Amino acid sequence: MTRTSPDRAKRAEELRQQIRFHDHCYHVLASPLISDAEYDLLVRELLALESAHPELMTPDSPTRRVGGEPAERFTKVRHPAAILSLSNAFSADDVRAWHERIARLDERVSAARFVVEAKLDGLTVVLHYRDGVFELGATRGDGEVGEDITPNLRTVRVLPLRIPIDPKRGKAPRRLVVRGEALIYKQAFLDLNARLAEAGQKTYINPRNAASGALRQLDPALTAARPISLACYSIVEADGTPPATQWDTLSYLRDLGFPVAEGATRCASLDEAIAVSLSAREHRDSFPFEADGMVIKLDDLVVARELGVVGKDPRGAVAFKFPAEEVTTVLQDIGVNVGRTGVITPYAILEPVEVGGVTVRQATLHNFDFIRERDIRIGDRVMIKRAGEVIPYVMAAIPEARGGAEKAYRMPGCLLAFG
Ligand code: IVH
Repeated sequence: MTRTSPDRAKRAEELRQQIRFHDHCYHVLASPLISDAEYDLLVRELLALESAHPELMTPDSPTRRVGGEPAERFTKVRHPAAILSLSNAFSADDVRAWHERIARLDERVSAARFVVEAKLDGLTVVLHYRDGVFELGATRGDGEVGEDITPNLRTVRVLPLRIPIDPKRGKAPRRLVVRGEALIYKQAFLDLNARLAEAGQKTYINPRNAASGALRQLDPALTAARPISLACYSIVEADGTPPATQWDTLSYLRDLGFPVAEGATRCASLDEAIAVSLSAREHRDSFPFEADGMVIKLDDLVVARELGVVGKDPRGAVAFKFPAEEVTTVLQDIGVNVGRTGVITPYAILEPVEVGGVTVRQATLHNFDFIRERDIRIGDRVMIKRAGEVIPYVMAAIPEARGGAEKAYRMPGCLLAFG
């Protein structure tokens, strides 16, 4: 074996640092500092060095994002601390009732501040770092034991393989376990489904299913092909003294190089936290990601911890849920509308179902290609969505719910000429 020259080792480390830094600028901060071509040159140089001198390869090398052998099955991982859930509130009154309950338990709560964050609709992940190097990533599982999906998470571009991203920004604790949500942004999801439909492949019902499906692939190459993103929001365990407030936790995580969902608000009172949540509810459609509510958290993490848990729900935070926008029902038949300009649009005649306080009986099916490409059949259980003022629409059929009596749709003969 040839000895690795110290210069080569130094160059490899330099390249790794530069690539990590530019990955962060590009994927997390969305403001690249160099061109794609310059970036590719760095990656190619590192790949060449590593393949000529495999001893230079490190587990945190950015070239390791794509690799990884398909696994036979996932192994189980016990979480270092319970990965808790959240209790739900569906109205401002529910939130006030939560506040009163905890104020009775601890007098510090009456004067407490809050942080309000989006409740991201993705898949919870638990990320372990040792000496700043990403070494393990797991799903939540039952909160005590999850599944090891490390090779898949390595392919997620915004996940830092080494922290801090910028060595000038402090030092990572010897051991750090962070919790976040893996998700796919709305636009990336639409693009992904369009690509899949074009290639004649199965599309996904929603971003959550796409993200969770992609992370549960045994072959990491399949995960790598999906536009998965990540937003981190809490520290499960850390050596040393982690930040004492939720607000500081978010900036600490951001400084280390973790992606953190934008738009968290620090509120001086419960009234303000409720107002912020209600306003976010009004604007949920303009979020770049799917959120199913807002999480109101006590900012003081010492008070939050001392309040303890009820079952699996910590007392120090509450999920203020948005009304559901997606429900399933049965597609009883398909009708057609002829617009003023002669455009023909198929619509679903549904078993009536309530979404957000309104009974929905019909939903648009967009066009005939949509029915064919998504293989939507009469009698299918379908997922429909009613968001804001938009006309309810059919998102997809749920083929797993088929009983065998469903029938493929046939366009009325008189319309075939238009199809
Ligand atoms: S805090 C003790 N914050 O919502 C920490 N959870 O119904 C409790 N979730 O599975 C969780 N966004 O993974 C928290 N900003 C956020 C969140 C969030 C999404 C998920 C969480 C959990 C579920 C609880």
